Amino acid sequence: MSLVGLSVEEVPTPALLLDLDNFEWNIAKMFSFARSVGVGVRPHAKTFKAAAICNRLISEGAVGVMTQKLSEAEALLHSGILYGDKNILMSQELTDPGKVERLVGLGAAMGEGKILTSVDDVREVDMLNEAALRWGVKQHTVIEMSHGRCGTAPGKPSVELAKHIAKLPGLVFRGIYGYENTVKRELALERDKLTVDTAEAIRSAGIPVEIVSAGSTDTYEVTGSYRGITEIEPGSFVFGVGPEGSGYGWGSNNDVYFKSSLTVLTTVIGANFQDRVELDAGSKELSGGNPRAVPPVLASVGGEAIHFDRASLSEEHCTLYFEAKDSDRGRLTWGQKIQLTPSHCCTCVNQHDEMLVVKKGRVAAIWPITARGKYT
Ligand SMILES: Cc1ncc(COP(=O)(O)O)c(C=O)c1O
Repeated sequence: MSLVGLSVEEVPTPALLLDLDNFEWNIAKMFSFARSVGVGVRPHAKTFKAAAICNRLISEGAVGVMTQKLSEAEALLHSGILYGDKNILMSQELTDPGKVERLVGLGAAMGEGKILTSVDDVREVDMLNEAALRWGVKQHTVIEMSHGRCGTAPGKPSVELAKHIAKLPGLVFRGIYGYENTVKRELALERDKLTVDTAEAIRSAGIPVEIVSAGSTDTYEVTGSYRGITEIEPGSFVFGVGPEGSGYGWGSNNDVYFKSSLTVLTTVIGANFQDRVELDAGSKELSGGNPRAVPPVLASVGGEAIHFDRASLSEEHCTLYFEAKDSDRGRLTWGQKIQLTPSHCCTCVNQHDEMLVVKKGRVAAIWPITARGKYT
């Protein structure tokens, strides 16, 4: 039996829910900002993984999407969403010749420039070039410039790598990305300057730089309005950021706010004790979440927050503990449905095959999580 049309109260639990109104509000906020400052948006699909969400974002004007993994890119490219000039930029580097073969073969099958890949090492670059020459296609590449994770150092090392790429007949150099992470405004500005200055240095060496990408949900305004950044790559904004979740935990370094749209619907399956209730979803459905987020979940009934002392997650249970002063325990009864907001949206989504899209309290559609469980 299809769940479409059921009220949230009738949905068997656990189930991943997407609140359509809040989700659409988030998309509208991000894209109206981007239009106002004239920056492109390439949402990071590692967050939401669903082709239907990519599609909504592309219809809104996204230049394409990012993925972290090659297998995520394969799943999304094969789902047929990246029509016209839309493409995927893969943000994680490859060292494995088998993956290089898969990537370049994918480009040969889907069309040149449909999948761009990030590089930070001459050995990776040379492997890509060789594979591209063998397949008779050109592999489009972007240098990842490091702000503390993978990547080449800003300045000279990035320029030298760009010069090397520009000389190779199997490759096309498209630009750089310098993901500055979820950091405070001042640090984001310092990092954006390094990224943009490095792009300028590459241009001064006579190499065109089309893409200069950076930006997370937390820094989208700072980075999106930084002169010289051509596109931003936020992901978790679609599911919210702010005191009511979800993103990575409940907060933001820069007072960024998007509405919470992602929850796991659970049922109270144990209500025999005054100091606690047990729910039928644990780390298996919510993921371990963000280890820095305390409590690991937020709980609500019909959109109204439940105040509890602490929560603990075991594999198949979430236990909410109450102190005598916590009057909300009295609101919870055996068999009742409760929505939990996970403390890390991306890893929570990865635990589910599909999300139920809810509008006006009813399931409007069921969206497959196209690129879930894609680790390679
Ligand atoms: C390279 C890269 N770009 C963009 C993002 C998106 O960050 P957020 O979900 O905070 O918007 C991430 C997240 O980890 C990332 O690794």
